[in-house]
Amino acid sequence: MPLTRSTINKSLRTAIKVAEHFHFALPPYAHWSLDQWNKAGAEHDEVRDCMLGWDVTDFGSGDFENIGRVLFTLRNGRSNDPRYPKAYAEKLLIDPENQRAPAHFHRSKREDIICRHGGNILVQLTKATPEGGWSDEKFPIQVNACTRILGPREVVRLTPGESLTIPPGTIHQFWAEEGTGWEFEGGRYSLSSEISSVCDDWNDNVFFEEWAIRFPQIVEDEPREFYLCQEYPTAG
Ligand SMILES: [Fe+2]
Repeated sequence: MPLTRSTINKSLRTAIKVAEHFHFALPPYAHWSLDQWNKAGAEHDEVRDCMLGWDVTDFGSGDFENIGRVLFTLRNGRSNDPRYPKAYAEKLLIDPENQRAPAHFHRSKREDIICRHGGNILVQLTKATPEGGWSDEKFPIQVNACTRILGPREVVRLTPGESLTIPPGTIHQFWAEEGTGWEFEGGRYSLSSEISSVCDDWNDNVFFEEWAIRFPQIVEDEPREFYLCQEYPTAG
């Protein structure tokens, strides 16, 4: 089923509850109404232009529960825009058990995945070949800043407080371990974060699935409750 506005609204209401439960305070604009954004002036351009804020996607999978993400981008820059020189980015990820992005690698982004609260995060890693395929090689990865040698498709389990670094050119997929996390309304939720070099979601992601797209079309089956990061109106 294509990603619907009702799914996005529900996911964001849940995301706010999960962040509250784990005492992760979000910036004020995480809670802004449509009306507040409609009236917001050019002084808020960094949020719009760097696509900060809520980001809900099914990557075009039609299977949001398993292949999807609910994120909040807290900071980012734009490598081609001198107004936004930050070379770093931070995202909060709300992780329902088992939900994941499609396997992908980044051409230039280096990202640290940090298991913050709730259950465990499982991270599956494979080195990409120079041609962008799946390599059979072993490769070193920093887990809690300690070098480990992994084989192709090896899974690393991160418990809260643990983290690892994913260099560019490393195929990755990660998700909250089934049966772990905070129980809420029939699901289980964990919180993780990503601290990375500047993030360009339009150009830097290499997916393997033909259908994979970062910002899919949304079916408007009920009124929007929050603007997503790609939806803000221009300054009023
Ligand atoms: Fe990634």
